[in-house]
Amino acid sequence: MSDKPQVSEVDDVPAPVKRSCGARFVAHYKKWWWVHLIVFVAVFLIIALPVVYVGYPHIAQSDVNKSTLNVTSMVVTNPTPESFHIDQVQVIGSHVAYHPQLYAFNASISLAGAASFASALIPAVKAINGATVTVNQELDVTSLSAFTDFTTAFLLNEEVGLNIYGKPHLKLGGLPEITVTYNKTATMKGLNKFKGFTLTDYSLVAPANSNGTNFKGTAIIPNASPATFSFGNVTLQLAANGTHIGESYLQDLVVKPGNNSVFMTSTVNETIVVDLMFGTDAPYPDGIVPIVITADAANASVYDGKVLSYYSHALAENTMNIKLNLSSLF
Ligand SMILES: *[C@@H]1O[C@H](CO)[C@@H](O)[C@H](O)[C@H]1NC(C)=O
Ligand SMILES: *[C@@H]1O[C@H](CO)[C@@H](O)[C@H](O)[C@H]1NC(C)=O
Ligand SMILES: *[C@@H]1O[C@H](CO)[C@@H](O)[C@H](O)[C@H]1NC(C)=O
Ligand SMILES: *[C@@H]1O[C@H](CO)[C@@H](O)[C@H](O)[C@H]1NC(C)=O
Ligand SMILES: *[C@@H]1O[C@H](CO)[C@@H](O)[C@H](O)[C@H]1NC(C)=O
Ligand SMILES: *[C@@H]1O[C@H](CO)[C@@H](O)[C@H](O)[C@H]1NC(C)=O
Ligand SMILES: *[C@@H]1O[C@H](CO)[C@@H](O)[C@H](O)[C@H]1NC(C)=O
Ligand SMILES: *[C@@H]1O[C@H](CO)[C@@H](O)[C@H](O)[C@H]1NC(C)=O
Ligand SMILES: *[C@@H]1O[C@H](CO)[C@@H](O)[C@H](O)[C@H]1NC(C)=O
Ligand SMILES: *[C@@H]1O[C@H](CO)[C@@H](O)[C@H](O)[C@H]1NC(C)=O
Ligand SMILES: *[C@@H]1O[C@H](CO)[C@@H](O)[C@H](O)[C@H]1NC(C)=O
Repeated sequence: MSDKPQVSEVDDVPAPVKRSCGARFVAHYKKWWWVHLIVFVAVFLIIALPVVYVGYPHIAQSDVNKSTLNVTSMVVTNPTPESFHIDQVQVIGSHVAYHPQLYAFNASISLAGAASFASALIPAVKAINGATVTVNQELDVTSLSAFTDFTTAFLLNEEVGLNIYGKPHLKLGGLPEITVTYNKTATMKGLNKFKGFTLTDYSLVAPANSNGTNFKGTAIIPNASPATFSFGNVTLQLAANGTHIGESYLQDLVVKPGNNSVFMTSTVNETIVVDLMFGTDAPYPDGIVPIVITADAANASVYDGKVLSYYSHALAENTMNIKLNLSSLF
């Protein structure tokens, strides 16, 4: 007796329970949907926000860190005592999957490890491997001593580190714009003391020119770097056997990459030179005279009538030695 109702009850019970479970489920969500939405959004944000605001900036900064910068050409023209024009082509190296947009930014330019000498506006660029950036503008020298150190290092060294530092904004696809630190040093070949400097096709000018010059020739100025510099009107000091023998003039000197052939005139004290070759106890009786070429740090480079101290100082730091066969000239 008691079994049958129990059995029928057991048969009947599951259906109402299933319905009420589904209905309770629906009812629960109808009532509490907003709690679930808040929880879902909170969980999403807890995961997404660090990814977007911590992970992505970190990855972006790390990729910026890994990128390289090469300077393939640099033309410095129109120098004044406190400014110069630069036309520089930089190539970005980047071997990562994404190519963010870097926005234009103001960068401090310096000799690597030294104080900044100028501030340049680096234009916007998409950071793909091989992307070129052209910086073509007039720059103010913000620190004369830092710029002098840079020009001197560039003239004297085989390699020079040019540092570019700034905080550009960066954007990748639909992700938010972030700020990264850009701190890159491009290693450039320097002028390396004009190694290989020589003088060819030289001869005496007799009678002397009206400006006093009595010697002329072609200076070969090798430039191993990718840079071009306008040094202006350059005066070099000549000495032999420890005695000042004259000055050389290189007018409107522009040193481009490669070997530069530059017309040169000089004022040479012929009395002293003849004495060095033919005098009693002459040190160079064979006529091969070693000439030491220096420059006056005070005024070796003059451009548009103004002394360029940063080039004058650099030229004065560079002592060059050549041997001239003067036996047939005198
Ligand atoms: C990027 O480089 C700087 C120093 O060069 C370092 O302090 C920083 O931790 C690096 N950032 C990343 C994300 O690698
Ligand atoms: C930059 O120069 C380095 C060597 O100084 C070279 O390994 C690299 O391939 C160059 N990158 C580009 C993009 O030219
Ligand atoms: C760069 O600096 C100049 C002057 O300080 C300012 O006018 C200009 O808006 C700056 N540009 C950027 C992209 O920050
Ligand atoms: C740029 O990086 C170099 C070497 O990693 C570091 O010595 C220099 O202090 C950094 N420049 C700035 C402005 O932080
Ligand atoms: C001197 O005069 C000669 C002949 O006119 C000229 O070629 C040379 O450039 C002049 N040099 C200087 C320093 O003015
Ligand atoms: C410059 O001249 C030197 C010596 O004549 C030569 O060895 C060198 O290859 C030349 N350089 C260029 C870039 O022409
Ligand atoms: C050349 O040098 C000698 C000896 O130092 C000097 O007496 C003479 O005046 C100089 N000549 C010229 C043209 O400067
Ligand atoms: C060359 O220099 C030496 C010392 O360095 C000196 O004794 C000699 O007199 C000089 N010769 C001439 C012609 O000036
Ligand atoms: C350059 O300065 C020196 C002094 O350092 C002076 O003797 C010379 O006359 C000056 N030359 C010119 C062309 O101004
Ligand atoms: C160099 O000197 C000459 C003659 O004095 C002048 O005509 C020329 O403008 C000067 N060049 C520069 C770059 O100052
Ligand atoms: C110097 O020049 C003369 C005349 O041109 C020549 O006879 C002599 O061999 C040359 N000396 C050297 C070392 O080249």
